[in-house]
This record gives sequence, structure tokens and C-alpha cells, in this order.
Amino acid sequence: MTAVPLPTDPELAAPPPGWVPCARAVLPDPGATEALARALAPRLAPGDTLLLQGQLGAGKSHFARALVRALIGPGGETAEVPSPTFTLVQVYDTPAGEVWHADLYRLSDPQEAVELGLDAAMEDAICLVEWPDRIAPDWPAGAVSLRLAAMPGAPDARALTLVAPPGSDLATRVAAAMEGR
Ligand SMILES: Nc1ncnc2c1ncn2[C@@H]1O[C@H](COP(=O)(O)OP(=O)(O)OP(=O)(O)O)[C@@H](O)[C@H]1O
Ligand SMILES: [Mg+2]
Repeated sequence: MTAVPLPTDPELAAPPPGWVPCARAVLPDPGATEALARALAPRLAPGDTLLLQGQLGAGKSHFARALVRALIGPGGETAEVPSPTFTLVQVYDTPAGEVWHADLYRLSDPQEAVELGLDAAMEDAICLVEWPDRIAPDWPAGAVSLRLAAMPGAPDARALTLVAPPGSDLATRVAAAMEGR
């Protein structure tokens, strides 16, 4: 994987020391974001955590919803995947194992994430975490960050940057999905 620049955004947490941006893709429209989710789903396994970073409206929920539906498999295309904005987490039983979709935007204290059981879930479920900035820099070493950013002059396009610790097995799988979608 080649090094790519990390877009700066003062509202988003910087990755922990040592994490590096390692892949970048342009998602020209919401359908491309869904296609990436479908390409990634079969490469995920329990214990994988995707930290979804990006401003309000960046597309984190759009991506997570498509991923949950893909992980549910046949029939999942129309599954109800509500935003966990107020509940903080939604948990799904899927053929790929338990999937936790969290939105930590309204987290009052990082300790609350532990009380929600998110720490434990990161060990044995597939976790999709919006606003992981709220628990930074306490990110699991096996997790990766996927940063979505708006692109000037292209309202429906998003730049996606994968940021991960060196040698991350999950990053290799995510990068493969980004290249091969
Ligand atoms: N390429 C794209 N990928 C994903 N979403 C896109 C894209 N282009 C436009 N959109 C639109 O941007 C919006 C993203 O909303 P979404 O709720 O996913 O944002 P979010 O990052 O989860 O925000 P929040 O921080 O409020 O939870 C949707 O309306 C979606 O249709
Ligand atoms: Mg959201």
C-alpha cells in the first residue's frame, strides 16, 4: 500500500501516533459508497472495527447502512437500519456474526462507551463506529479509520481515506475492497 496524504480537519480527531493514511478512493455518488460497502462486507469478520470519520452529512451512516444490509445478506437490501443518533448503538444479528452500529456524536463521556459494552463488542463483533473522535485516541489497535470528506464542486462525491496502523490485516482487506469494488 502506498502512502497518501491525510486531509486535515480540525473537527476530526487525528489518528493515534503511528497510524498512517494508506489508501484513497473517490466515491463519485452514493451508489459508489454502497458498492464499496457490498465489496467490503464479505471481507469482514468478528473483531473488525471500522471507525467512520467525517463531518455531519459526510456519508458515514449511508456507508454503515449499506454495510449492515450487505452483511445481513439476501433479503437485507430492504432491512430497516435506523440511525443510532439517539440510541447510540443498534445491534444486528447477521450470518457474519453480531454487527454493532454506533454513533458516538452524543456521547457525554468516553467511559459511557465502555458502559454501552462497545469495548467488549470491538473484541468479538463487527463494529461500525460513527464519531469515534469522541473516544480518541483510545482506538483499538486492530481497528482502521475510514475518513469521508466532501469534494469541492462535486456535491455527490466523497473522498475516502483509509488510515491504519502499519501492518494492519484489516487495512489490507479494506484496501482490497477499495481497489476492486
Ligand atoms: N458519495 C456519497 N456517499 C455517501 N453519501 C452521499 C454521497 N453523495 C451524497 N451523499 C448524501 O449525503 C448524505 C449523507 O448523510 P449521512 O447521514 O450518511 O451522513 P453522516 O456522515 O452519517 O452524518 P452524521 O454525522 O450527521 O451522522 C446522504 O443524504 C447521502 O445521500
Ligand atoms: Mg450518521
